[in-house]
Amino acid sequence: MVMLAWPELVMAAGCFFFLVYLRCWKYNTLPIKWPVVGMLPSMLLNIHRVHDWTTQLASRNRLHFPFQGPWFGCIDFLGTADPANVKYMFSTNFSNFPKGPEFKEIFDVLGDGIFNSDMDEWRTQRRIGNALINLTLDDFIGQCVFEKRQQLRRSEKVKEGDDKGMDLLTSYLSMEEEEMNKSDKFLRDTVVNYMFAGRDTVSSPLTWFFWLLSKNPSAETKLIEELKAISPKKNQTTQQDRPVVFDIKQLNGLVYLHGALCECLRLFPPVPFEHKAPIEQDILPSGHTMPPKSRILISLYAMGRMEEIWGKDCLQFKPERWISRDGRIKYEPPYKFMTFNAGPRICLGKEVAFTQMKMAVATLIYNYCFEPVEGHPVVPKNSAILHMEHGLLVRIKRRLI
Ligand code: HEM
Repeated sequence: MVMLAWPELVMAAGCFFFLVYLRCWKYNTLPIKWPVVGMLPSMLLNIHRVHDWTTQLASRNRLHFPFQGPWFGCIDFLGTADPANVKYMFSTNFSNFPKGPEFKEIFDVLGDGIFNSDMDEWRTQRRIGNALINLTLDDFIGQCVFEKRQQLRRSEKVKEGDDKGMDLLTSYLSMEEEEMNKSDKFLRDTVVNYMFAGRDTVSSPLTWFFWLLSKNPSAETKLIEELKAISPKKNQTTQQDRPVVFDIKQLNGLVYLHGALCECLRLFPPVPFEHKAPIEQDILPSGHTMPPKSRILISLYAMGRMEEIWGKDCLQFKPERWISRDGRIKYEPPYKFMTFNAGPRICLGKEVAFTQMKMAVATLIYNYCFEPVEGHPVVPKNSAILHMEHGLLVRIKRRLI
């Protein structure tokens, strides 16, 4: 019998892995699946560019990529960027696809707030959140006045600073929902959830927006022209040096501004991933059979960059994409434009977010020029919110119009 020495064995193993690698590299569009460790090496090699890596996998594999981790790790998942799957999981068969307990473990800082809840607990929080966010400004002020009258009638002492209007926390406290457990923990979780929902989700796309405009000067010119048409006239004697501020009602009528923001949110969705875990075995429209509690990762970032979904120019910043032939804003279904989520769990603050972004963008762009500092790296961060890894370094000058 021929005995192999260690060096020969190591060489043989090396050749084997090299041949496997070559074969997979040539014929396979999925990461190489190694014995024991599965596809983990590929993930580790690409972890610094995880969003672009998932986009690459989705685009090479017709919108889906099953990932198999090490046999001891339990991190297998199906990655998808398929609108048909999204529609099925987020709407058609919504009740079979909660976020799952793992989501809560990852985002434990959000406690039992709306983001981390599923089923009945979520339904109650959604109903209350919906009622509160959808209050129009008039209703809101009306309610403040009403409550203030009640307080005064009851001769309650009004503390200084209390009369500045109602906030979400006050609204929660004053709601008479029997089933709502208004413990300090519940209120803390609610505040953290709304801060998480409404703060960085709005600031991160603004950073990307200014960078995108700097790379697309013709879009910037069109935006300024659109704003010029509604710009309030300055009073010659007193207001020459003051920045121009726009009226939100007029901003809401601007088609190019809306298209430019949607385009930015398509390419850089502030929430880049969603997570689902079926309760019962189910078959997705893509044909994948998902056992109970298996993981499905939906890459919103990849969805915004798929040729199958947005066409050949999918990687270009084109606000015109959102404008119909008759000059109106073009509607894209949430299963395709997934940035604000889809189905019953669609973002509660979408309109609030657009209002804030339009006000900020219009005021800043109309009054100032932003010039990114050359050589400063611009890459997405690997975090729950799609920030820029190193922030955006710019030179700011007053714009002369
Ligand atoms: C551009 C800005 C925003 C984007 C892109 C965005 C996107 C999203 C996404 C993707 C979700 C689903 C998250 C998940 O279930 O894992 C979500 C949910 C939510 N968003 Fe937003 N959001 C934005 C701004 C806001 C603002 C300003 C508010 C509040 C004022 C808000 C309130 C909420 C709430 C309460 C939920 C939970 C809805 C539910 O689970 O039923 N969002 N948002």
